[in-house]
Amino acid sequence: MHSTTRQFLKTAALAACGVLLAACGKKDAPAPAASAPASAPVAASAPPPAKVYVVGTDAAYAPFESQNEKGEIVGFSVDLLTAVAAKGGFEIKFVNTPWEGIFNALAQGDRDLLISSITITDERKQTMDFSEPYFDAYQLIAVKADSKVAKFDDLKKLKVGVQTGTTGDEVVTKLQGKNSTNVKRFESTPLALKELEAGGVDAVVADNGVVVNYVQNNAGAKFKTVSDSAFAPEQYGIAVKKGNAELLDKVNKGLAAIKADGSYDTLYAKAFGAAPKPASAASK
Ligand code: ARG
Repeated sequence: MHSTTRQFLKTAALAACGVLLAACGKKDAPAPAASAPASAPVAASAPPPAKVYVVGTDAAYAPFESQNEKGEIVGFSVDLLTAVAAKGGFEIKFVNTPWEGIFNALAQGDRDLLISSITITDERKQTMDFSEPYFDAYQLIAVKADSKVAKFDDLKKLKVGVQTGTTGDEVVTKLQGKNSTNVKRFESTPLALKELEAGGVDAVVADNGVVVNYVQNNAGAKFKTVSDSAFAPEQYGIAVKKGNAELLDKVNKGLAAIKADGSYDTLYAKAFGAAPKPASAASK
């Protein structure tokens, strides 16, 4: 009987001790090295994972950047930057990013790079840095096949669809005046073109490559294009956060390498079916 009581007390004391030790261990937080299993891998033996740069693109801009049936982001911009990254020695991952928030996402650090058929402009250069240009473009007008529009100036009093905040928006706003209610702004260029098809606007002004692609793939829409030499030549650049010289340097090195070894021309031909032509001759 005594021995049973002693045994009980001893067990209780050990248990209490264990609780105390556990509590004590918890309070003294920093995990003692001894608690790590002896077989834990030594951090230094594994190479640190390579940084994967997050690339923002507004993937509603075929044939440059769009989503396929599987939801993957595809197009000339994707192929181009993938080749640039391979040559420049860095890893990337594309994330669909609405145009309206795209520059902000770069400034906030949510995206490391942008490739989204972005025209290099003096205004944008104030808030981000651009690579060397990688593509020549210009504005092109889309109208219904029976439209009387023959030049940009004819759009002065018409309802014109544009993608908000694009260079197309800029030129049309300049033509019609800041307060014009005839500039119809859309979230994406395909939405503006659909509105033209539906008769809600009289014309759309957007980058030539995208307009030509849409007209070719939507014969039922019965559109024609109207070009005008009044539109200034534009060039696309890859954007990095202002001051990110290290990444910009890698991008420019990769770009120079794919231009030098002919892979740029191969990618261009894959996307547009022909070798790059001077902007003035590229109109359709
Ligand atoms: N090049 C034009 C601009 O920079 C339009 C670009 C729109 N790109 C896009 N993926 N939606 O304003």
